[in-house]
Amino acid sequence: MSKRTFRRVTKTWDEFWAEFWRIRLVGDDDAAHLNNEQVVEFCWETLKMKPGMSVLDLGCGAGYQALLFAQKGCEVLGVDISPPLVKHGNKLAKKLGVSASFAVGDMRTFKSDKLYDRIVILGMSFGFGTEEENLASLKCVYDALAPGGKILITAQHPYSISNHLGSEWLECDEGILLHRGEFDPMTCRLGGSWELACPDGALILEGENPELDGIRCYTVPELSSMLQNCGFRKPNFFGAWYLPGSPINWFSMEMICAADKPKRS
Ligand SMILES: C[S@@+](CC[C@H](N)C(=O)[O-])C[C@H]1O[C@@H](n2cnc3c(N)ncnc32)[C@H](O)[C@@H]1O
Repeated sequence: MSKRTFRRVTKTWDEFWAEFWRIRLVGDDDAAHLNNEQVVEFCWETLKMKPGMSVLDLGCGAGYQALLFAQKGCEVLGVDISPPLVKHGNKLAKKLGVSASFAVGDMRTFKSDKLYDRIVILGMSFGFGTEEENLASLKCVYDALAPGGKILITAQHPYSISNHLGSEWLECDEGILLHRGEFDPMTCRLGGSWELACPDGALILEGENPELDGIRCYTVPELSSMLQNCGFRKPNFFGAWYLPGSPINWFSMEMICAADKPKRS
């Protein structure tokens, strides 16, 4: 029996993984699209959204949810740290003829002259920075939000981490994905690594990546007090994307938080 030897290649987020995860794996996936529709519907009702509102989607990935907000009549800016994803979002917006644009940006330092009616951070894009950077991201959100505006953020639920731990492999069109999930109780971060074993013998490893240090798993009291320290009011937590809103509990799959900026600060 011949022994397969793998060629190890390291590729950065922007070179390979961003497009792999956010476009190739989910681009044609009906389940992912149904989930995006459910997420957008939940935001629409929970944040009392209306056509004509301005929406900022931070960490927007390939822009699927941002485009759905635009299709509902909002004027949307999607911001992501990864240039290939921004390019993809702009291409889709042009194709669909909707009022959405996409720009490269970093939520930890995001500044805007324009104030937005609604700001969302979806798909667990919040928490990849250091403690200071995550707090800075929330301050940036507060500053970019119009008085009386509303936000919705998804974070990693600290009690559902066991779903992401240990080693597993998954088959996909591109090859076999090898995953090792780890949790560090000293930093409360969920991390690990992904590798893609391709049929041509390439073993693609993760290089420079905004998610490489894992995601900080904030508890409800922690995230709630961070938001209130930034000036937000009425943080409200949910555990699923079902309407009219399921309370969060220890076995919820999601940690969804909505909050308001006061009309006058
Ligand atoms: C888990 S994906 C979620 C994408 C999208 N929101 C969704 O739900 O499909 C996280 C996204 O956040 C982006 N990202 C990570 N760190 C970021 C940062 N500091 N500023 C802006 N985007 C960031 C990544 O490039 C990636 O597209």
